[in-house]
Amino acid sequence: MDLKSKLLSDLGEIQHRTASEQIEQVLKQAILEGRLPPGEVLRQEELAQTFNVSRMPVREALKKLEAQALVDFVPYKGAIVTQISKADGLDNYAIRLALEPAAIRYSIPFLTRDDLQLARDLIQQMHDETEMDQLGVLNKRFHMCLYGKTPHAKLLQLVEKQLSVEDRYLRFHLSAMGREHMSQDEHLAMVEAATHQDLDRAEALVRKHLIKAAIALENFFDRKP
Ligand code: NI
Repeated sequence: MDLKSKLLSDLGEIQHRTASEQIEQVLKQAILEGRLPPGEVLRQEELAQTFNVSRMPVREALKKLEAQALVDFVPYKGAIVTQISKADGLDNYAIRLALEPAAIRYSIPFLTRDDLQLARDLIQQMHDETEMDQLGVLNKRFHMCLYGKTPHAKLLQLVEKQLSVEDRYLRFHLSAMGREHMSQDEHLAMVEAATHQDLDRAEALVRKHLIKAAIALENFFDRKP
């Protein structure tokens, strides 16, 4: 048996995975940049033809985008680009307000010096970052870094899911309102409070941070025609 036939199934797997990742990236960019607007129906057959692949990698890419709250699967319609609205955005912040103050409180006692250093590094990276969608990714990593040591795995899963939903809104209102809405002072204060094991202060800061972001989001939608 030659190497090719030994590896053939794996090679197929690699090519397949690469295809689905590339499709995911292309669709994600198009959605975030508004070329595929909210509500647009994404037909698997059409996408498969466009990318010149079978439907399987397309379906996989759509499933990954669903996990990032960029795509919804609607009965009888298929995959559509997620609708964003003020009500939905505020709903998301209400959920985050219920989850994240608790998450940081549970997590802080277990944070290591390395975790805190990583959080500081991420603040610096956000400061240096010019790409808006990268800012969203870094913001999510920063928050997860501070919440990540909570021993409650399911709480952490919920937190991470809501942070992914927020990514999309953050992207929109950051591009509309500028990066000062990243609230870096608050990020820094959170790391300080965590460093001093000040649970009450950390919790209050997370709450303030989220309320401020919710107000920014509200202003963003109110300002839009
Ligand atoms: Ni933040």
